[in-house]
Amino acid sequence: MNDIEYKNAMLYTARVYKQGSRELDRLQIYEAGKEYLWKSKYKKKKPMTYDFTCDWWTDRVNQYKSQLEHLKNADFSYLEIGTYEGRSALWFADNFPKCNVTCIDPYQPYHDLPIHLIEEAEKRFYKNKEGKNITHYKQGFIDFALSTNNKKYDVIYVDGSHLSFDAFADATIAWRLLNNNGIMILDDYELQNYDKEYENCKTGIDYFLKNIYNQHQVLYRGWQIVIKKTPAYDEMGFPNKKLGAKDF
Ligand SMILES: C[S@@+](CC[C@H](N)C(=O)[O-])C[C@H]1O[C@@H](n2cnc3c(N)ncnc32)[C@H](O)[C@@H]1O
Repeated sequence: MNDIEYKNAMLYTARVYKQGSRELDRLQIYEAGKEYLWKSKYKKKKPMTYDFTCDWWTDRVNQYKSQLEHLKNADFSYLEIGTYEGRSALWFADNFPKCNVTCIDPYQPYHDLPIHLIEEAEKRFYKNKEGKNITHYKQGFIDFALSTNNKKYDVIYVDGSHLSFDAFADATIAWRLLNNNGIMILDDYELQNYDKEYENCKTGIDYFLKNIYNQHQVLYRGWQIVIKKTPAYDEMGFPNKKLGAKDF
């Protein structure tokens, strides 16, 4: 017990025994002090209480989060396409204290989820993000990208609409906003939402990955795909193998 903890434990013990602190003996302080220390530790560790109704994130990120370890104390920017109640955005805000989080979600009707769920998720997100370093733009990603003045990000999570064409379009545009050596996470690669194979997310993501085949490295492949952007060209416009580009 350091001096401050001892003093606080003494005050706490005096309250427990309803005695003046001078009347206490050291053993009393020590015993009740242990309880005080336990309580204060427990208070500090009490988990954040958020209002979530679903979890499409924790099990997925747990598969590859070691790949993000180097960002632990880094000052970096994170862009999220599709935020819903904020589960993934808050995970980044809580696990990476210097991370600047930007979320894009229009909270408008779309084919994946009924509108009443979207409206409730929007309210939950606003409540959940109170006091957090999170900026939210209430618009579709493509409108955001057109107005963003080419600002770049270090990590981008693509989790908006899961129709193949939307997944392809979002990933392709987001790729332009990703810094070299930045990381992109693409969700729902294995989701089979539609009868027609070509409408599923995988078709759009595979086509996107083909287009950037010489500019990326796959860090993880499962329900989500995690890739790192390797700079493909040198200043002269030639493929730069030293920087990680593969042959054309
Ligand atoms: C699966 S939820 C996101 C879940 C969230 N990332 C999480 O881990 O909890 C998909 C979200 O994408 C949003 N969305 C749909 N179309 C979008 C678009 N064009 N741009 C950005 N977000 C979009 C929906 O409103 C919905 O909230």
